[in-house]
Amino acid sequence: MKILLIHGPNLNLLGKRNRDLYGDKTLPELEAIVTQRARELGASVKVYQSNHEGALIDFIQEEALKADGIIINPGALTHYGLSLRDALEDSNLPIIEVHLSDIHSREEWRNKSVIEDLARAQICGLGWQGYIDAIDLLVDIIKRKK
Ligand code: DQA
Repeated sequence: MKILLIHGPNLNLLGKRNRDLYGDKTLPELEAIVTQRARELGASVKVYQSNHEGALIDFIQEEALKADGIIINPGALTHYGLSLRDALEDSNLPIIEVHLSDIHSREEWRNKSVIEDLARAQICGLGWQGYIDAIDLLVDIIKRKK
């Protein structure tokens, strides 16, 4: 079972960027936690981060055929990234959307996610622990499908 863990713009700065909102963990630390949890559940994880919407789309197009599911935190592209949305839709994979902060209790423009209706679940406001919930849920969804 192979899972894609995808991060969008500015999430490469985790650990330095607004720690009150996004926590202390760096992106590599977070990726290691998810990878470890996935291993315990019998899954492997391929990680990718980009600050560019097109690069995220290229990655999804290249990897989706070889993968069983996607966990994605699209950063600000969550709120307006329509070509990223199309790529996710075209992947035909189960998707879990994760946000470290609670996008529903912040600025109004963050309340809307253009991918939420594609996602099997949106997990937000739980910090890095939200990714553990995401991997547990996604593995469960994939197992039930097989
Ligand atoms: C975020 C929330 C987005 O609104 C923001 O642009 C981010 C991070 C989160 O994880 O809370 O970059 O996706």
